[in-house]
Amino acid sequence: MPENLDMQNVKELLLKTEEKCQNCYKCPLGKTRTKIVFSGGVPNNKLMLIGEAPGYWEDQKGEPFVGKAGQLLDKIFACVGLSRQKDVYICNTLKCRPPDNRNPLPEEKAACREYLDIQVETLKPKIILLCGNIAVQSFLEGARGITKVRGQWFDGPYGAKMMPIFHPSYLLRNDSREKGSPKWLMWQDIKEIKRVYDTLS
Ligand code: URA
Repeated sequence: MPENLDMQNVKELLLKTEEKCQNCYKCPLGKTRTKIVFSGGVPNNKLMLIGEAPGYWEDQKGEPFVGKAGQLLDKIFACVGLSRQKDVYICNTLKCRPPDNRNPLPEEKAACREYLDIQVETLKPKIILLCGNIAVQSFLEGARGITKVRGQWFDGPYGAKMMPIFHPSYLLRNDSREKGSPKWLMWQDIKEIKRVYDTLS
């Protein structure tokens, strides 16, 4: 963990931020959400995944990536021996579900940004995975589309190594596992992520 924050403090700070989120009505999504979706997995200083926004099931359960896309995400991590229960902190650019799962609006992302920034600043993860275009745009301004930038390492906040990866819902729409297909590329990316993860102390 960051030297100046022990795990207890980290958990308290994240909990306080989550409570603030519960009472957040800075954008109209505060009125339409069922539950806020603050985070999933485990707080840790190695691996964070940032997705887009909660969908229907996440909004119902208050947990990120619990629908079909989330199940695929768990399988992808499991392929290299990682699990959300032990190794990954998961959050989204938005903590509330946009109606009909439309893309987040700029003003919604701006309103929610403070919570994401606190999550990153508190944990200072060494690896940040930007899952899908919306997360990429939040950290790599002016970046080209996900198909161009996925699999590359970028410098992230607090010295993090940051990699854009395909969103699992994109993989669900693309069945092929042939060389060069999205699923094949994801397999290359997760192996590279695990390689770097294994070098972390
Ligand atoms: N898609 C996301 O980006 N995040 C979730 O939590 C669920 C689906």
